[in-house]
Amino acid sequence: MAKAQKIFTCSACGASSSKWSGRCEGCGEWNTIQEDTPLSAGPASKSLGGKRGASIALTDLSTEEAPPPRTECGMGELDRVLGGGLVPGSAILVGGDPGIGKSTLLLQAAARFAQAGLPTIYVSGEEASAQVRMRAQRLGLTDAPVRLAAETNLRDIMTTLDNERPALAIIDSIQTMWADNVDSAPGSVSQVRAAAHELTTFAKKRGISVVLVGHVTKEGQIAGPRVVEHMVDTVLYFEGERGHQFRILRAVKNRFGPADEIGVFEMTGAGLSEVVNPSALFLSDREDPAPGSVVFAGIEGTRPVLVELQALVAPSPHSQPRRSVLGWDSGRLAMILAVLEARCGIPFAGLDVYLNVAGGMKISEPAADLAVAAALLSAREDASIPKDTVVFGEISLSGALRPVGQTENRLKEAQKLGFTSAIAPTRSKTGSGSGLNIQKMSDLTGFVGDIFGAG
Ligand code: TYD
Ligand code: MG
Repeated sequence: MAKAQKIFTCSACGASSSKWSGRCEGCGEWNTIQEDTPLSAGPASKSLGGKRGASIALTDLSTEEAPPPRTECGMGELDRVLGGGLVPGSAILVGGDPGIGKSTLLLQAAARFAQAGLPTIYVSGEEASAQVRMRAQRLGLTDAPVRLAAETNLRDIMTTLDNERPALAIIDSIQTMWADNVDSAPGSVSQVRAAAHELTTFAKKRGISVVLVGHVTKEGQIAGPRVVEHMVDTVLYFEGERGHQFRILRAVKNRFGPADEIGVFEMTGAGLSEVVNPSALFLSDREDPAPGSVVFAGIEGTRPVLVELQALVAPSPHSQPRRSVLGWDSGRLAMILAVLEARCGIPFAGLDVYLNVAGGMKISEPAADLAVAAALLSAREDASIPKDTVVFGEISLSGALRPVGQTENRLKEAQKLGFTSAIAPTRSKTGSGSGLNIQKMSDLTGFVGDIFGAG
């Protein structure tokens, strides 16, 4: 028999190698390689030759299965992100920075699901039961029929779940779980992978929904191998900026509903409260129109959300001017600056550029291109965009403006919040219903000329 040998696994991409190195050859990430134990015991690593397996029963595609009965917890923001409630037997991963509010959210969700009739068990591997009870008291949830345990031994947890048969089990967090058949420390790649695998297959077999809480690394990935994300049905990220009370729960993967859906919450002294109208919240502390401030009519999942973009452009004291972005992609900002320079002749060389999405929101839609360009130009030219105007549209490398999806929803939301005009690409399907005054633009040069009288 071969000697048991060490292997090394990348915590970002899961690639394994025979020796340690500072950089993963698979994905190029630095400092992600950890020592790991090879999966030698399982049959999966042995050759399948020899013994015959059993024949698997095959079915047609046209089974008459009803859609899964979902349970709603009554927190509308959470139910929507889940795709319309919790599906029995589903495995959900909730990731987020430490301290962002994951335990708070899930304790509140546990209480709501328990009150909605699902027997619920909350297992904390990070806090003592007394700490969780104190939190429950602070949140006013002490009457909810949630069963609680502080435990990290995976075998004991699984036996308990098997005996108790809850409908929902919350594991806070997957990094603290310890499987005694895996020979490495809790939090290591192989432990996280083993624990997640055991729990998700157990969930499927028994029809128990499990929620795994996962910490996120500095680089913004759920700590542990990427494979955990592949094992579960739904991956939700709980995000927000420190110093802001808004928290956004974002579905990045969902086998039972649309991805990209968001739920908005506010962290208060008594836990997380739902924000039913995020646009009003994001725009609530908006001041009088200032140069560099533009309202973007965005779509998050199925819902329109208006957010304020703020730009500051100032002469740079550095030889390499700063490009600083919060809440938007820095590569996309570079592209827009390049298009403004190359197609409209507006240089940003020698100028520091700061771009910020107000309220700690993150935008990933290319539909925000035109609003970003408008904020940059407004800051550079020191000219404000009228306060009652929303802006949206995608910019192509040629400087042409492309229409974006769900234009009508964007306009309707803007109208609802008291905006009277919009700047949008020419071929936008605006429909008939909107009462807004829409200025349609076909390219960026025209936009610069019309709105800023320059270019
Ligand atoms: P927590 O849920 O423990 O975060 P995580 O599990 O993601 O690490 O939340 C911790 C923060 O939330 C902590 O800084 C205090 C704050 N908080 C409130 O502001 N109000 C509350 O009612 C609770 C319970 C926590
Ligand atoms: Mg926690």
